[in-house]
Amino acid sequence: MKITNYWPTPISESVINLSEECRKALIRVVCKYGENIFVYSDDHAEAQYIKEFEGIAQQVISAYLTEAYNIPKEDHHISARAFGNHQIYGGRTYPHYHNGYDGIMAHYLTVGEEFKLNDNYDVLPLDEAEKIYKKPSSVERQGYYAIQGNTKFRETSKVHAVNEGENYMEKFPLSGSGQFIICDPRTGVSDVFSKKAIAFKPKVGTTLIHPGYLWHETNQFTGNGLRAIIVTMFNIKTDEVWYAPKPTKEFKDKGWRACSHINDPMVNHGNCWDGSTKRGTSGNEIL
Ligand SMILES: [Fe+2]
Repeated sequence: MKITNYWPTPISESVINLSEECRKALIRVVCKYGENIFVYSDDHAEAQYIKEFEGIAQQVISAYLTEAYNIPKEDHHISARAFGNHQIYGGRTYPHYHNGYDGIMAHYLTVGEEFKLNDNYDVLPLDEAEKIYKKPSSVERQGYYAIQGNTKFRETSKVHAVNEGENYMEKFPLSGSGQFIICDPRTGVSDVFSKKAIAFKPKVGTTLIHPGYLWHETNQFTGNGLRAIIVTMFNIKTDEVWYAPKPTKEFKDKGWRACSHINDPMVNHGNCWDGSTKRGTSGNEIL
């Protein structure tokens, strides 16, 4: 596991090598039932693979928390939910962050050029003849900046032009099919975008962990076959981390319950609370 402090925010990059059998089973799970992967019954057809991945995710996230934040390894200090994301040619993930989660682990099951699905969600090899999307040439990638003056197709205002001997991905790391872009949400005073965003080129097994508040997205996937990831969103259960302030208390334990008018400031809540009035014992009032 390699943890790099960007801006500084610890982002972990590691590789999890799943068996081929497990990987295919999980791709099937992602594509067929990808909404809440860690909730499954023991007789689920892919239960053993999900369970295996769940255990691996627990270990890797725990290692990240220890290395990045010095949180001791404990068995039960993480709660998590996993979902899947899969794409074919033209797909992308728009910019977003994960509100309400401390961190995110993205594991790449396949990044294209390998598999296709049949109607039964079986994961099948992609034949060479089916690889119809070829690597676009540098000419197709060219565009021109709009700047003042007569700049029409001006050689020096080219965007994304790759010259002989240059590598597209090296020259433009924030571009390129399927690149994962992660961005510090704090604004930069100058050069706003390029210094606040970094790119990863995922491979099979690539596993990235980052805080949930970081904005991220992927570029449009322009390859063949399937691209599939499992995303594990996790929270640190602070009650179970020994040095964290505790306990936390759920407000509902106080007996105050939100009524259906809670967001309407014009409503008198006098009799809305469950079995109580609007006045607490010290006379405070919620209007
Ligand atoms: Fe995400």
